[in-house]
Amino acid sequence: VQPLRLGLAGLGTVGIGVVKIVQRHADLMTMRTGRPVVITAVSARSKGKDRGVDLSAYAWEDDPVALARRDDIDVFVEVMGGHDGAAKDATEAAIAAGKDVVTANKALLAHHGQALAEAAEAAGRVIRFEAAVAGGIPVIKSLTEGLAGNQIKRVMGVMNGTCNYILTRMQNAGLPYETVFEEARQLGYLEADPNLDVGGIDAGHKLSLLASIAFGTKVAFDHVELEGIGNVSIEDIHLADEMGYHIKLLGVAQMSGRGLEQRMTPCLVPADSPFGQLQGGTNMVMLEGDSVGQIVLRGPGAGEGPTASAVMSDVIDIARGLRLPTFGCPATQLADVCPAKSATP
Ligand code: NAP
Ligand code: HSE
Repeated sequence: VQPLRLGLAGLGTVGIGVVKIVQRHADLMTMRTGRPVVITAVSARSKGKDRGVDLSAYAWEDDPVALARRDDIDVFVEVMGGHDGAAKDATEAAIAAGKDVVTANKALLAHHGQALAEAAEAAGRVIRFEAAVAGGIPVIKSLTEGLAGNQIKRVMGVMNGTCNYILTRMQNAGLPYETVFEEARQLGYLEADPNLDVGGIDAGHKLSLLASIAFGTKVAFDHVELEGIGNVSIEDIHLADEMGYHIKLLGVAQMSGRGLEQRMTPCLVPADSPFGQLQGGTNMVMLEGDSVGQIVLRGPGAGEGPTASAVMSDVIDIARGLRLPTFGCPATQLADVCPAKSATP
C-alpha cells in the first residue's frame, strides 16, 4: 500500500499540531484511510528552533517552494500564513508540480482562491481548506457535503475568536476596549497584524469563503462590507446591555434582489440568544438551507489542536480518494454576481 506523503510548510501553532496528530494517530489514520499517512519533509524560517517535537525523521527545506516541488511528497500542507509571498508562490508551485494542497490560510484563498482553484482543477489536483474557516468546526464540509442537497439561504456567524474574546471580556468585566485589547495581546491571541482581527478582516476573509461555497459565486472578499470592533466602546456595551442586547462581530452572507450581500460588522444580538451567549474565543456559524432549515455549529475557532484537527480531516479525505472541487463546484462555473458593497446594514 502506498503511503500518503505530506510536505509540511510551517511549523508554528498549526504545523506543530499537525506533526503531533500524524505522530500520535498513525494507526488510526491507516485504519481510517487504508494507507499510512506520513510526513516526509518540512519547512519553516528557522531550522534550529526547538519546537518541542521530534522532527529528525523529516527532510528539511529552507525554501517552501522547493518543498512543494519535491518528488517524495503527494500533498503540500501550507500552514505558514500570508496572502502573498511564500504561501502563494509555494501553493502555485505545488499545483504545477502535481501535488494536492491542504491549507489553513484564509487570507491566501480570500485573495487568490479563484485563480488557485482554477489552476488546481485544470491540473487535476485538489485544494482543501477546512481549517481556514472557524478552526476546528467542520463548517466547510457541512456546506460542501452535508448540506449539498440544499439551496443555501443564509450563512451567519461569529468567526473571529479574538474579537469575541475582547467583546465578551468587555461585557463580563466592564473593562474598556483598550485594556482588553492589551490583555489579548499579552495572551498571544492577536495576529501579528492585530488589525486583521480587530479590523474584521480575518472574519471577512472567512465569510467570503463560506459565501462562495454557499451561493456558487466567485470569492469576493473585496465586496464584503467590513467594520471591525475598534470603535465599540464600553459605553456602547453598557447601553446595549440595558436594552437586553450584546454586541458581537457578526457576519452575514445572503442573496437578495441586489445580488450577493456580505457583511461583517458589530451587531446587536439579543443577550439571551445563542449568539448573545457565545463566550470567549468560541466560534458559531448558522447555516440555513431550503430543505434542512437552520443548523448551528459551535466550537473552538482557533488553537493548535482544533486547527490541526481540521487540517487532518482534509488530509484524510485526500488519503481516502475524496476529490471535491475547492468551492464545492468547478471553479470555472462559479458565478460573478457581486454587487457593490451594500449601503444598508
Ligand atoms: P505561526 O505560529 O506564526 O507559524 C507560521 C509558521 O510558518 C512558522 O513555523 C514559520 O517559521 C513558518 N513560515 C512563515 N513564513 C515562512 C516562509 N517564508 N518560509 C518558510 N516558513 C515560513 O502561524 P499559525 O498560527 O500556525 O498559522 C498558520 C496558518 O494557519 C495561517 O494561515 C493562519 O491564518 C492559519 N490559522 C491559524 C489558526 C490558529 O489558531 N493559529 C487557526 C486557523 C487558521 P518559523 O517558526 O521558523 O518562524
Ligand atoms: N485570529 C483568528 C481568530 C485565528 O482569532 O479567530 C483563527 O482563524
